Amino acid sequence: MKYIVVSSRCPFSHEKVAGKESIKENVGGVATALRRSMEKHGGTWICWGDGKLDGKYLEEDTGKYKIKRVLLSMPEKKGYYDLYSNRTLWPLFHYFRERVKYTDNGYEIYRRVNEKFARSIMESVSGDEVIWIHDYQLALVPKILRDSGIKNRIIFTWHIPWVSKEMFETLPESDDLIKSLSSSDFITFHTETYKKNFDDLLTETSRVKSFVVPLGIDFRYFSNSRGGDIKSYTLRDRKMIFSIDRLDYTKGLVNRVLAIEELLKRHPDLAGKFVYIMIVTPSRTTVSDYVAMKRELEMHIGRINGEFGSISWMPILYMYRKISDRMLVSYYKNADIALITPLIDGLNLVSKEFVASTDKGVLILSRFAGASNCLDGAVIVNPNSLGEVAEAIYKAMNMSEEEIHDRLTRMKKQVSKKDTDWWIRRINAIAMRKINDRWSA
Ligand code: G6P
Repeated sequence: MKYIVVSSRCPFSHEKVAGKESIKENVGGVATALRRSMEKHGGTWICWGDGKLDGKYLEEDTGKYKIKRVLLSMPEKKGYYDLYSNRTLWPLFHYFRERVKYTDNGYEIYRRVNEKFARSIMESVSGDEVIWIHDYQLALVPKILRDSGIKNRIIFTWHIPWVSKEMFETLPESDDLIKSLSSSDFITFHTETYKKNFDDLLTETSRVKSFVVPLGIDFRYFSNSRGGDIKSYTLRDRKMIFSIDRLDYTKGLVNRVLAIEELLKRHPDLAGKFVYIMIVTPSRTTVSDYVAMKRELEMHIGRINGEFGSISWMPILYMYRKISDRMLVSYYKNADIALITPLIDGLNLVSKEFVASTDKGVLILSRFAGASNCLDGAVIVNPNSLGEVAEAIYKAMNMSEEEIHDRLTRMKKQVSKKDTDWWIRRINAIAMRKINDRWSA
């Protein structure tokens, strides 16, 4: 069975760096898993060619699968990506109601771009390929395809949270979205709650069947990679707390540094005994909320370091940049604690990657990360309580080796069982189901 995979982001893009053509690989968790699926099943991957030189490579054959790029003009990018996807749908589906911007113009462009993707899919259909569409940027594609007579199986994977009915219905276009997604054959979510919220909106005649299939990671890669040594004077004899996130208000970054401040207020004896390495990767830099958030975060980090730091120690070592995979694994392996405290997160693959990589670390995880449903050895916290997060860090710093080991063993089992290959197999099994069967999730 061949697939036509459709996602906003491409597996890689063509860029021009210092006058030379180069390939920039998309290393995100979803792209990695989809690449694996495409290499296994073959087919076509349709995505937005946003690389500087992607216009030269509209169609590409990687040997194992084909790529077809959809190009967007600057106004299309602004309306589809900056505005409707990231200023309307993203905050709404993460319960940030006050951040949601309602603009007719944004929706109109989003719809037209979804039509562009749909046209590209229609040109690629040649037989009974399964059409597998991803995420909130492409929610209108299923209905456009059905209205144009496409009968192929459609499977939709929703990677972010699905909110309650009350919240969802605040969206003026909620009817269009639900009608479109319901015209897929199958839809998958990362947690039971998201599926339940979605199911609340369905009627008896709805065609779509929903399933919970949380995305996994390449467990073997992370557990077998050695990573490099982190040679840092500042880390010597100190506990290392680590986090890596995209710069996003959903990630709870400000709360997290305030929790570090709370920790130092409650336990002043910890001054000089740990370093919190906070890596934040640039994201959606053309969306104004993200620019404002960066300023706020950096202001707090500066204030806390200024207040508690000394000539030989700063509590927070902050880096705003992308890092290589090799460096990432090194941080995972060397960290004593991973501090992953989003205010809300569809899944959070960093927590799974950390579990796969470490042999000595404690995972502190927000109860509002989808991944908390499948990692029962984590120290679970409510990120809204600075005191609770501070005490969880204290507890993690003083945890016995035996308890750390027990918790890790449990989690490693869970993460290795439901890895990328498991995810692909589950999706494939769902895509192959007989339509109109009576399914159980
Ligand atoms: C989230 C979304 C993805 C998105 C990713 C990166 O994980 O679920 O759909 O691709 O963020 O965001 P970006 O705006 O850079 O594509």
